[in-house]
Amino acid sequence: MTNTIQDEFIATVSHELRTPLTSIRGFSQTLLSSWDKLGDEDKKKFIKIIEEQSNRLINLVENILSVSKINTDKPIFKKVDVNNSISEVVQLLGQKYKNHFILTDFTADLPPALLDEDKFIQIMTNLVDNACKYSEEGKNVKISTSYYDSEKILIEVKDEGVGIKINDKSKIYDKFIRLENHLTSKTQGNGLGLYITKRLVEEMRGKIDFVSEEGKGTTFELIFPIYNQEEAMACSQLS
Ligand SMILES: Nc1ncnc2c1ncn2[C@@H]1O[C@H](COP(=O)(O)OP(=O)(O)OP(=O)(O)O)[C@@H](O)[C@H]1O
Ligand SMILES: [Mg+2]
Repeated sequence: MTNTIQDEFIATVSHELRTPLTSIRGFSQTLLSSWDKLGDEDKKKFIKIIEEQSNRLINLVENILSVSKINTDKPIFKKVDVNNSISEVVQLLGQKYKNHFILTDFTADLPPALLDEDKFIQIMTNLVDNACKYSEEGKNVKISTSYYDSEKILIEVKDEGVGIKINDKSKIYDKFIRLENHLTSKTQGNGLGLYITKRLVEEMRGKIDFVSEEGKGTTFELIFPIYNQEEAMACSQLS
């Protein structure tokens, strides 16, 4: 990072840190000083805010660590069964988004891809998390896998959510960008997920794109190379 970008980054991060910290401090102080005067409902409400703001901080710190590791943590390429890794992500996020239907449509005989498995799981987690976060409860999120061509696989994450305006297409992968829609204001996030996702996809020689219709939903598409031994050797020499 150049100095100006780094200064800007630090300024934004400090702001992002200060907002939840101020709120945690404020509600803790109120709880401590007015405990006897507050009703149970209010106490519960304040503690809930403290919990939400702590989660926001944890998410931010984890994302900042991921950003800082992008250039230093080189991928460890392996044979990865993407259907298997996606199933892990679906299981985990199914617990977080109990009121969404996270479905899969896997091509059964899909060959392994040449990927860093942890980074691939991080990519899928970000995309499926967004698909649930930016669609209403009760909606479907569908993840499918297929052949793109004889050398590549295609993974799609399709939601029935708010959609992304065509004008926002160029900025969606920028740092700290959150688009304006009624679900962005209701949900937590720092706008780092897609920035990290795109960097990780490209680091693993993949491609990411999306198609979207406002109010109807969005489909993110990932393309990754299929595993082959020569490429695997070349990649391990690079990293
Ligand atoms: N599937 C989607 N449907 C509609 N809007 C989306 C979708 N995915 C991302 N967005 C929009 O793009 C913005 C950037 O997404 P990104 O994942 O980078 O950040 P975030 O989800 O706000 O926060 P973070 O991922 O850091 O917790 C979101 O705030 C949201 O407005
Ligand atoms: Mg996100």
